[in-house]
Amino acid sequence: MLTGIILSVSMFAQSPKPLLQVIDSALQKAVAQYKYMGTVLPGDKFPKTWYPLTKKQETSNSSWWCSGFYPGSLLYLYEYSKDPALLTEANRIDKLLEKEQFNKGTHDLGFMMYCSFGNANRLQPSKEYDEILLNSAKSLSTRFNATAGVIKSWDHGTWKYPVIIDNMMNLELLFWATRYSGDSSYYKIAVSHANTTMKNHFRADYSSYHVVDYDVTDGSVISKKTHQGYADYSAWARGQAWGLYGYVVMYRATKDQKYLTHANNIAKFIMSRPNLPEDKIPFWDYNSPEIPATYRDASAAAITASALMELCKYGNDEERKQSYIRFAEKVIRSLSTQTYTAPIGENGGFILKHSTGHLPGNSEVDVPLTYADYYYIEAMMRYKGLKGKK
Ligand code: GLY
Repeated sequence: MLTGIILSVSMFAQSPKPLLQVIDSALQKAVAQYKYMGTVLPGDKFPKTWYPLTKKQETSNSSWWCSGFYPGSLLYLYEYSKDPALLTEANRIDKLLEKEQFNKGTHDLGFMMYCSFGNANRLQPSKEYDEILLNSAKSLSTRFNATAGVIKSWDHGTWKYPVIIDNMMNLELLFWATRYSGDSSYYKIAVSHANTTMKNHFRADYSSYHVVDYDVTDGSVISKKTHQGYADYSAWARGQAWGLYGYVVMYRATKDQKYLTHANNIAKFIMSRPNLPEDKIPFWDYNSPEIPATYRDASAAAITASALMELCKYGNDEERKQSYIRFAEKVIRSLSTQTYTAPIGENGGFILKHSTGHLPGNSEVDVPLTYADYYYIEAMMRYKGLKGKK
């Protein structure tokens, strides 16, 4: 009898909390944390990161590629909590961001404008948001070169016409623009960019290079390099996550089977890495020779989890789809522990710790980052949607 009681008590103690409960508690903490973030952020700035050793905050202006993530996170958290203070803060910061709709010097307009105004428009549709988004898509389209078939990523550096795998994330804005305006040119640019990237960025094992440089006189590839990864041949963890998310969006927008197959292949590459830790938060580059004595990248994990939460809805392979859900669940559980989630009022107001921005540049190493928070929140919201709890 006693043994029976002890056994059932210990069994109870071992069963994990249902994930929906974990997520609700994580989202409530995130609401409190982002309200705190609003109190420490200078009024004319955007959050960038925070350095745990020096306790120093780093901010940016609106032209930094991450400026859309803070308003985007606030909007997801508003959607979750209906707390009007979050909407007020999102609207305040979006006003500072608005002018970037005319910025033709960056390929990151999808990140900047669709995570912010795209979410704002989804929650509270308005003509004003439509205009901002359409102007942003127009600005982004000016960076497309028809001979190479791709959108140029960077204007800096010694490359001729560099395209980074991250650029797949900017295409969602173009699909929106065609749906809204009826002008198919945005759609065609996105498809051309994705097809060219599929051909030139990916290796036989479905890992991807970071930077492919093009010669726009004939569209040929000049070189395949890395910038933020360990080596040209390596699989930079966040790059793999951007590629996965990007081709999931491609399938959603076009329903072309080849993008679904490609996304499944990238997911297989990521999920089968032998050096992926038990908690499924990857090291910053899957080929770093320093593993396990090197840094994790929580942002790569969050982006992957969010992408898998959508990919698990597509196709007929039930076993594969369940494996995506299990993997994403594990990531969310891990990120929601004290190891990765900061206590409220610490970490500069960011939710997650332990992301790696640019290790070879010795910048943003083992720090919080806005996009880790954004895709973590998005993954949790998607999970709630999947379970009919949104
Ligand atoms: N898009 C830049 C980065 O992922 O760091």
